[in-house]
Amino acid sequence: MSGNNRVAVLDIDGKQFKLPVESPSIGPDVIDIRRLYRDARVFTFDPGYTSTASCESDITFIDGELGKLLYRGYPVEQLAINSHFIEVCYLLLYGELPNKNQLDDFDERVTMHTMVHDQMNYFFRGFRRDAHPMAIITGVMGAMSAFYHDSTDISDPDQREIASIRMIAKLPTIVSMAYKYSIGQPFIYPKNNLDYAANFLRMCFKVPPEKYIVEPDIARAVDRIFMLHADHEQNASTSTVRLAGSSGANPFACIAAGIACLWGPAHGGANEACLMMLRQIGSPDRIPEFIKRAKDPSDPFRLMGFGHRVYKNFDPRAKIMKQSADEVLNLVSNTNLPTLEVARELERIALEDEFFQERHLYPNVDFYSGIILDAIGFPTSMFTPIFALSRTVGWISQWKEMVADPTQKIGRPRQKYTGSRERSFTPLSER
Ligand code: CMC
Repeated sequence: MSGNNRVAVLDIDGKQFKLPVESPSIGPDVIDIRRLYRDARVFTFDPGYTSTASCESDITFIDGELGKLLYRGYPVEQLAINSHFIEVCYLLLYGELPNKNQLDDFDERVTMHTMVHDQMNYFFRGFRRDAHPMAIITGVMGAMSAFYHDSTDISDPDQREIASIRMIAKLPTIVSMAYKYSIGQPFIYPKNNLDYAANFLRMCFKVPPEKYIVEPDIARAVDRIFMLHADHEQNASTSTVRLAGSSGANPFACIAAGIACLWGPAHGGANEACLMMLRQIGSPDRIPEFIKRAKDPSDPFRLMGFGHRVYKNFDPRAKIMKQSADEVLNLVSNTNLPTLEVARELERIALEDEFFQERHLYPNVDFYSGIILDAIGFPTSMFTPIFALSRTVGWISQWKEMVADPTQKIGRPRQKYTGSRERSFTPLSER
């Protein structure tokens, strides 16, 4: 890279190509290769996108070396301590913290959309009772475009806005319905005098014949989980939402695509996989056996809840989540002690182990969120749905940003083709 005009020079077989170098507001410089194929007839090759900035965005910033996560410039630790999920939703969607009137108005708009179309109750009944809630939620989110087609025209900013509010408001209702359906209990309607997290807890744990009082400290811990998962830059599910949206697909379809992607165990499915792993380990004396497996290159086993593609020193969300886990565990009496004992010992052993230190493998957000949700009484199958619920506002903010960008075009990666060269068809009789 050279000079004030900042160009990177690419030399291919003696022919030079100048590529503009641009500086973002923070973070590494980017080399603009948009004209590279036109000028040099080459593609860049970056499977897993480890060196590729796929878009411009002013929503979320991550510094993986320093363990920083900023929503619209605000450190997530500050928001987790001083703010609440609805305020964070406003910040992510509109770019600034709301004043009191703006917050009240936004809260009211979300609260007035918590109920789902009554016909959706019957839609649920088409699923098997033992279906994974993520399978149900993916389907129901996709089906929202059938229930709310008055908000699917993406060229209309008002429709984009109402679709966004509907998804944020209805996801807790849909996720709790998926849970209730899986355990054979009746759906519980939302209660609009409760805040977002308390309402969700009530819809999950109340049964009609019994009173259910939401414990405020538990609601606060759940609200914190929502805030810490609300957005995370261009991760796999967010990139999926953007790619789906780049074709002009409706917002419900795009978010359904994001939910489907989130389900994978390397992404949002890790919190469930982590708790299953802790249960599989069973007792602290079996930890060395699993650590040995995690280090064995011929064994595909990995310690779930450890490592991160971007954070290489620590995950700032995990720091807060660990604090929250300690608080919740003090509050809850039905804590599953063997799992907790394994988790604490595994964390200690892995943090002291050279293999994990050298590879910068630390417990990530999913390690602790699973422990909290388990202590509150959620089954493991609900962990990833709760992640999806929290991330919906991030996906929507990123989708809205993309749709409003006049330079936006359909996403279309190319490939390094490794198949046969052109050949002639051989008739069946000659094969
Ligand atoms: N257990 C054991 N070894 C690991 C682990 C792990 N959890 N994660 C990475 N490694 C090793 C890996 O084998 C490799 O070793 P070597 O250099 O000897 O080949 C090295 O660390 C680098 O791994 P990588 O696969 O190149 O790293 P990545 O950046 O592609 O993977 C990851 C990131 C999150 C997919 C991976 O760490 C992982 O699979 N972790 C477990 C799943 C998990 O907890 N995911 C949740 C991520 S946080 C929530 C979210 O943002 O979605």
